[in-house]
Amino acid sequence: LTLSIHESVYSRRMVHFFSEIDPLNAALRQMTAQYTSVFVLVDENTQHLCLNLIQPALPSLKIISISSGEQHKSLDTCGQIWSLLTAYEADRKALLINLGGGVITDMGGFAASCYKRGIDFINIPTTLLAMVDAAVGGKTGIDYEGFKNQIGLFREAREILICPVFLQTLGHRQLRSGLAEMIKHYLIADGGAFYQFGQSPIAPDLDAIRRAIDIKSSIVALDPEEKNIRKKLNFGHTVGHALESFRLQTTQPLLHGEAVAYGMAVEALIAQRLSLLESGKAKQVVEKIAAIFDLRPLTPEDMDGIMRFIPHDKKSESGKIRMALIDDIGSCKIDIEVSGGDVKNVISDFNKIMEIYAP
Ligand SMILES: NC(=O)c1ccc[n+]([C@@H]2O[C@H](COP(=O)([O-])OP(=O)(O)OC[C@H]3O[C@@H](n4cnc5c(N)ncnc54)[C@H](O)[C@@H]3O)[C@@H](O)[C@H]2O)c1
Repeated sequence: LTLSIHESVYSRRMVHFFSEIDPLNAALRQMTAQYTSVFVLVDENTQHLCLNLIQPALPSLKIISISSGEQHKSLDTCGQIWSLLTAYEADRKALLINLGGGVITDMGGFAASCYKRGIDFINIPTTLLAMVDAAVGGKTGIDYEGFKNQIGLFREAREILICPVFLQTLGHRQLRSGLAEMIKHYLIADGGAFYQFGQSPIAPDLDAIRRAIDIKSSIVALDPEEKNIRKKLNFGHTVGHALESFRLQTTQPLLHGEAVAYGMAVEALIAQRLSLLESGKAKQVVEKIAAIFDLRPLTPEDMDGIMRFIPHDKKSESGKIRMALIDDIGSCKIDIEVSGGDVKNVISDFNKIMEIYAP
């Protein structure tokens, strides 16, 4: 019974895949026909590079354009969105299309969910990270007073439209950042897909994207509000998020996926140290991730930064560090208690391995 209720809340059927733009536009025309007005939320990059791909399908589309970047995933920007919806007299049967990366899908989903107690929204993710992660799974929100995703709610997009054509204009670093979340999905649930995935960071095809989304959406269907198994999706994120938060304070910030790549390599070695993961498999994970993401040894400052930020991790409870750790390539356990000493020692081990790759 629990499963069927959750499946009615979160259905994988709402994700649609297109290898070309024309069929996406045909579907979009149909999906939007019932609404009184249709808005599209873009930032200046997706307005310039992506909007022209869908605009022919929706001639009366009203455009809400905001500034790009995480610093604009804010209450102020939501205020601008709500003011425009109000000025256009959008009613409860209006629709918001979120056309952009994770900032647009997170914030657009949140803004739509609050406007008049909730209007429908459709996500059309245009970064790889948003396709395989942010746009899927119902987490919406904004940053607040320096804390990421501090204000938000769980609410599913009405539909999610995936088309790799949007990735043609995405920069190499952004693409690689999305690859990290894809690889993470494979590592926690599909060893075969991990082994098949090549070592060179090229744009993945629709099948590889679809596989990653399927993994995320089937986990979310079972645990939409992250009470238990959805925590598996946090593999690589305890160390990764701590490193990302620390680097944000420096002149060498990392993209989210870049930090998660370090996190996955270090956490695979933590799993090995705790005898969860065989050493040969940990080695395969670290070697492949190091090659794809061009990992380097972490500096003493990085190590201190990670140790400082880890206690703030959302999975920590009563001062104890808890991680989701892989116990095989394609399988993951949640709520594993890890000591600060283990993390420190493993970062040293990680550096020794990386010195072989990046002397
Ligand atoms: N809700 C979730 O479950 C979830 C999961 C993971 C990440 N997130 C959130 O996602 C956000 C990060 O997402 P992101 O990496 O997509 O960042 P982003 O939305 O900032 O996009 C990255 C950059 O790429 C540009 N861009 C977008 N599409 C483009 C295209 N097709 N061509 C060229 N440029 C393009 C954007 O304008 C931006 O400058 C964070 O706020 C994070 O918290 C949410």
